[in-house]
Amino acid sequence: MIEKLTIRRPDDFHAHLRDGNLLKQVAGFTARQFARAIVMPNLVPPITTVAHAEAYRSRIISALSGSADFKPLMTAYLTEESDPAEIERGFKEGVFTACKLYPAGATTNSAHGVRDFERIFHVLSTMERMGMPLLVHGEVTDPEVDIFDREAVFIDRVLSKIVAAFPALKVVFEHITTRDGVGFVESSGLNVAATITPHHLEFNRNAMFAGGFRPHFYCLPVAKRESHRLALRRAATSGSSKFFLGTDSAPHRVGDKESACGCAGIFNAPFALESYAKTFEEENALHHLEAFASVNGATFYGLTLNEGTLNLRRSPTEVPRSYGDGNDILIPFHAGETLAWRRESDGSEA
Ligand code: NCD
Ligand code: ZN
Repeated sequence: MIEKLTIRRPDDFHAHLRDGNLLKQVAGFTARQFARAIVMPNLVPPITTVAHAEAYRSRIISALSGSADFKPLMTAYLTEESDPAEIERGFKEGVFTACKLYPAGATTNSAHGVRDFERIFHVLSTMERMGMPLLVHGEVTDPEVDIFDREAVFIDRVLSKIVAAFPALKVVFEHITTRDGVGFVESSGLNVAATITPHHLEFNRNAMFAGGFRPHFYCLPVAKRESHRLALRRAATSGSSKFFLGTDSAPHRVGDKESACGCAGIFNAPFALESYAKTFEEENALHHLEAFASVNGATFYGLTLNEGTLNLRRSPTEVPRSYGDGNDILIPFHAGETLAWRRESDGSEA
């Protein structure tokens, strides 16, 4: 039995670091494990300009005061008004790493997202030319479509058309939740990849309804049935370079989760690597964890691989029941449970 695993320092290719006090509360959890994170732009108001992204990046860095060894990679929130010249300038100046496409109304703070996808085609054309990745929240928002089918229908109605119209565009299908998503990525060219979250690897939709409604298992895209979870586990642990780590850590205060209209999102940042290690071990694939966590994403984005290493040791780790107090309580993924792996520093980890 493997007792210790040393991997190159990993990156998180999908994280919500939030803003204000919440940013100060959560950013350290991501920065402690990951050298870099792709920071989602769904703030209020959204990050749509180079100036917004630079200011937000400064707020992230100052929230992490002292921990200089973490690089936030900023994203632009695409709207039907996005200006290709602004996106190009942001990318060329090294401010924007990628653009995020939210279908309007699909998830938290997506009201400014896109309704008519052809209205952003001129932006996609600029991105294709520059090699700038498009990060896609892949769900249709048509209320007629069953919520569990929204990813599969998005592939048919939207994503397949974007990929066909821009055959060289780098596309990351974010937080895939279905075997349809896996199949689409596998059958597309090398310019199409996907992130997979720890929670979609670990539970299926039953978890939301086990003995009562459990809001801390509610996220978007919503978890699907077991056969889909198994397809995700196969893809993530297969060693394929098309799949990589993106936690989609999405903290909401407990009062916003446990509510008559609870927010979608799972706060998995505190024990993200330990969670992924659990899945990879269960699938007898710990030898593929490093590629998934530290190599495939960076290679797809065209980033250099991180220096330094991080150790995971087999040692029981208790996950706190909550973080914070008063109005700022956050409930983490795996709250109150014990995980088998513990992250530790070997000296090269900052
Ligand atoms: C995210 C959030 O809260 O910002 N929520 C979620 O359930 N994943 C938005 C998103 O990534 O869909
Ligand atoms: Zn997200």
